[in-house]
Amino acid sequence: MKKHLDLHAAYQPQSFSFRSAEAVKDILDRYPEGRERSAIMPLLDLAQRQMAEEGAKATPPYGGWIPRAAMDEIARIVNIAPIKVYEVATFYSMYNIEPVGQYLVQMCTTTPCMLCGSDNIVKACQDRLGIGLGETTADGRFSLMEVECLGACVNAPMVQINDDFFEDLTPARMVEIIDLIEHDKTVPVGSQTGRLNSQAAGGGTTLKETDKARKSGT
Ligand code: FES
Repeated sequence: MKKHLDLHAAYQPQSFSFRSAEAVKDILDRYPEGRERSAIMPLLDLAQRQMAEEGAKATPPYGGWIPRAAMDEIARIVNIAPIKVYEVATFYSMYNIEPVGQYLVQMCTTTPCMLCGSDNIVKACQDRLGIGLGETTADGRFSLMEVECLGACVNAPMVQINDDFFEDLTPARMVEIIDLIEHDKTVPVGSQTGRLNSQAAGGGTTLKETDKARKSGT
């Protein structure tokens, strides 16, 4: 997905500072001296999560995203040119470089999900929320984003909402999930048909003899 970094947009805050110096230090301590730039990705994630926490209390709410000021602060911390941080933040779809809704619905439309009906999932989300791809609802609660494979192809079609995966979706179940989230209800994550992890849809098919032998002690 093409990402648009507008360094001077009106929504960009003038400054950013990490709330927890200890969390920053914990990340920096993972890397040897002289390799501080390896901390760029976890620091971007930390900044995005801090914004999400602040956004959950704001009116209207917003989700996790990384302002330019946060990227500049990370560049200062790891002592590199800001452009090096911009390059990383703009490359990966998991970093949001523009404001997003409190719940970011990332819909996978890569081949396995597409073959299992992701077009209908996208349409269900758009119809339910009344927004298009890359847009946010007026109340600030939901954004829709199309993404490439999220690595849960065996349970296609699937979407990621903030940190959670929702798999084995149908359009009707997708709408139910949005309804539940909108009303601050708990939604079970993972497969929506009840399959265990990524087991075959009809149940486990392998290692049964081994399991039986283990239980009988033979
Ligand atoms: S193709 Fe959708 S998760 Fe891999």
